[in-house]
Amino acid sequence: MIAYLPSGKEEEVSSPMNREELKKKREKYIVPGVKQMYAEPPHFVKGKGQYLYDETGREYLDMFAGIVTVSVGHCHPKVTQRTVEQVQTLQHTSTIFMTQPMVELAEKLAEITPGDLSKTFVTNSGTEANEAAIRFARLATGRNEVIALEHSYHGESHLASTITGNHNWRPDTMPAAGVAYAANAYCYRCPFKKTPDNCSLECAKDVERVIQTQTSGKPAVMIAEPIQGVGGAITPPDDYFKEVKSILEKYGALFIADEVQTGVGRTGKHWFGISNWGVVPDLMTMAKGLANGLPIGAVVASPKVVDGLVKQQINTFGGNPVSTATACAVLETIEEEKLMENARVVGDYLMDGLRDLQKQFPDMVGDVRGKGLMVGMELADKNKTPLTQETARIVEMAKDDGVVIGKGGLYGNTIRIKPPLTITKENVDTMLKVVRKAMEATVKVGAK
Ligand SMILES: Cc1ncc(COP(=O)(O)O)c(C=O)c1O
Repeated sequence: MIAYLPSGKEEEVSSPMNREELKKKREKYIVPGVKQMYAEPPHFVKGKGQYLYDETGREYLDMFAGIVTVSVGHCHPKVTQRTVEQVQTLQHTSTIFMTQPMVELAEKLAEITPGDLSKTFVTNSGTEANEAAIRFARLATGRNEVIALEHSYHGESHLASTITGNHNWRPDTMPAAGVAYAANAYCYRCPFKKTPDNCSLECAKDVERVIQTQTSGKPAVMIAEPIQGVGGAITPPDDYFKEVKSILEKYGALFIADEVQTGVGRTGKHWFGISNWGVVPDLMTMAKGLANGLPIGAVVASPKVVDGLVKQQINTFGGNPVSTATACAVLETIEEEKLMENARVVGDYLMDGLRDLQKQFPDMVGDVRGKGLMVGMELADKNKTPLTQETARIVEMAKDDGVVIGKGGLYGNTIRIKPPLTITKENVDTMLKVVRKAMEATVKVGAK
């Protein structure tokens, strides 16, 4: 079927199920916890670059990249070609047999990760990568306790959801044992009531207080996202991670940087987010954007952490030739198309645009934060009361006007903008226009 786009272009889409029929079947056959972001969700059938198309052929600008995953754009020709070639050549052997793409990927990751990080374990998701990283840290140190941050998100398994400091994403009422939580580096809502002018890094110092009061004094590891993703692009102050790392070293604990969202160039200046703070972690986890949408995750560790861990381990699908060949093509594309630089330049432009919105709507935009194309705009009134309903309304209205943006944060009041790294300044202008219109309408009528 040929669909007709608002731009006048014709886009060929397959003849899919009608949207209403699909919605009904989804409600009938998928577990109810798998919720949709929209009250009236479109039925997406095609993606190309930074654009999505619904079953009528309508075009949407995708500023959320399938939750921060489609790093080089939907169905990038070079990446897709590499995937298809690999599917047609060799799809699966498992890690007990020797194939090239997994090793090629590991070699590349050793080159682009900081410091001596150089030994890789490939998984199928970020959750699995975090599980594996914590296991490595526990085995390497002979200790057990884990420190996580409030407002964090680290995945869906029992342990990964326990180290998630956000009740919205913790279905288990019996969490995994041995996890303690440090206060978050959340400058806009500083848990220590400081402001950027009188910040004394109390949040970083809280890690020592937590070690002393909530652990045996000998924790195995701390895990943190350099910029919290699901938490709403919460971006710690400049010296935060240096201070945290030195506290961890004092107590003999390791540090895992969860780069599932901040990895592969998204923050603009560096391949990985933690490098913005000048810190080298002992282990790093990644997933999402690494393979542009194919299932993948990885732990990259310092040899000093993992070289002694010789007991057999396996991952049937982790390291499969298709996902790892695709990831190699993604990393090549980021380099060839200078997408990190694009993330920085277009990201700065986006930040300026959002700060203008903040000036225009001072009683609606509490904070604008992030780095590169990992950006959040927290909606709150002058008293910092979260504007949760308003956020949902603006996100829904933007979709009705053809722009997909995300939302998150503990209170669901942060607009999350984390598009493919390929977007242009014109795309940013389009998004800002649509969001401004939705905000104007929301100011007029309130959240209803
Ligand atoms: C920072 C972070 N870590 C881990 C995960 C879990 O990754 P996955 O959904 O691939 O299991 C996510 C997913 O959103 C994430 O944002």
